[in-house]
Amino acid sequence: MTTMENVIVLVNRIQRACTALGDHGGDAPGSLPTLWEALPSVAVVGGQSSGKSSVLESIVGRDFLPRGSGIVTRRPLVLQLHKTEEGVQEYAEFLHMPKRRFTDFALVRKEIQDETDRLTGKTKQISPVPIHLSIYSPHVVNLTLIDLPGLTKVAIEGQPESIVEDIENMVRSYVDKPNCLILAISPANQDIATSDAIKLARDVDPSGERTFGVLTKLDLMDKGTNALDVLEGRSYRLQHPWVGIVNRSQADINRNVDMIVARRKEQEFFTSSPEYAHLASRMGSEYLAKLLSQQLEAAIRARIPSITSLINKTIDELESEMDHLGRPIASDAGAQLYLILELCRAFDKIFKEHLDGGRPGGDQ
Ligand code: GDP
Ligand code: NA
Ligand code: MG
Repeated sequence: MTTMENVIVLVNRIQRACTALGDHGGDAPGSLPTLWEALPSVAVVGGQSSGKSSVLESIVGRDFLPRGSGIVTRRPLVLQLHKTEEGVQEYAEFLHMPKRRFTDFALVRKEIQDETDRLTGKTKQISPVPIHLSIYSPHVVNLTLIDLPGLTKVAIEGQPESIVEDIENMVRSYVDKPNCLILAISPANQDIATSDAIKLARDVDPSGERTFGVLTKLDLMDKGTNALDVLEGRSYRLQHPWVGIVNRSQADINRNVDMIVARRKEQEFFTSSPEYAHLASRMGSEYLAKLLSQQLEAAIRARIPSITSLINKTIDELESEMDHLGRPIASDAGAQLYLILELCRAFDKIFKEHLDGGRPGGDQ
């Protein structure tokens, strides 16, 4: 692994350890909540059924999310991807069930549904309490992704009137943070001027420096029309180029079309299209996954000085906390604090060894 990969792995682990202490480390002592927030992640935003969950699945290369029409995603899902050595069996783990390793991803989907229902009942209601899921696989890039309920314009039967605002506030609480990269999903078969994702992204990130425009459903556009104005940045300019995506249709999902087959078909869609062929190398889910990993890395790199000073502050605080609790550690929370302390020390050590002293680019 390169130094930067090590750093991302550590950031992931610190985030996860902080989370184990409570919602975003919120109940933890001292600077831990601030530390969680200082660590960059990627949030997926867009209107209902724009294809958010489908894009996340394509990035992971696995079927594991509840998807479909209507409000399916009803709690935030904080998804941490951890790249493992080649040949290691892929598995998933929920924070609320730390002892169980899932290797059957259909069961992961079921557990997300069940865990959603545990808080909201089998309703169309939403809850801001996140579900935390980690996926360990040789085929993923190191990333923290957050799937969020879709923005809507009206409450439907069985939902309180406040739901439109509740969802928007929930989404905002993630994308407001200056270190949150925004994956703004808009469907190509709707006018971009009406995109909820772009509207919100423009609001919280007017310069567009942390917004990634993603255009889904390119296969569903009316015959004779194309999305070149959007994809080439003429309709709405962002600092990062737009990425076009073709996810699986509902019919594909019903027929259990395999993810690998779907990715190949997606690539063929672009390379064989007279309109999009010239953009093909910058389109599709695989490209998007690599782009995001690079950008997350760049975001972490840019924040190294502030993260390092926070980490040092955290180490000081944790050390006095540990002295106070006394070692060896008895309680779960104590063990968790100790783990965070160890991770922070590892993080600090990597910076001292590789990234300090005029080589901010590390060993890349
Ligand atoms: P979310 O509500 O934004 O999370 O959207 P989902 O990922 O659940 O997708 C909603 C529906 O749109 C599902 O039936 C998907 O199969 C379908 N869908 C998503 N993206 C595409 C796409 O690029 N092409 C086609 N044909 N269907 C898509
Ligand atoms: Na949906
Ligand atoms: Mg969804």
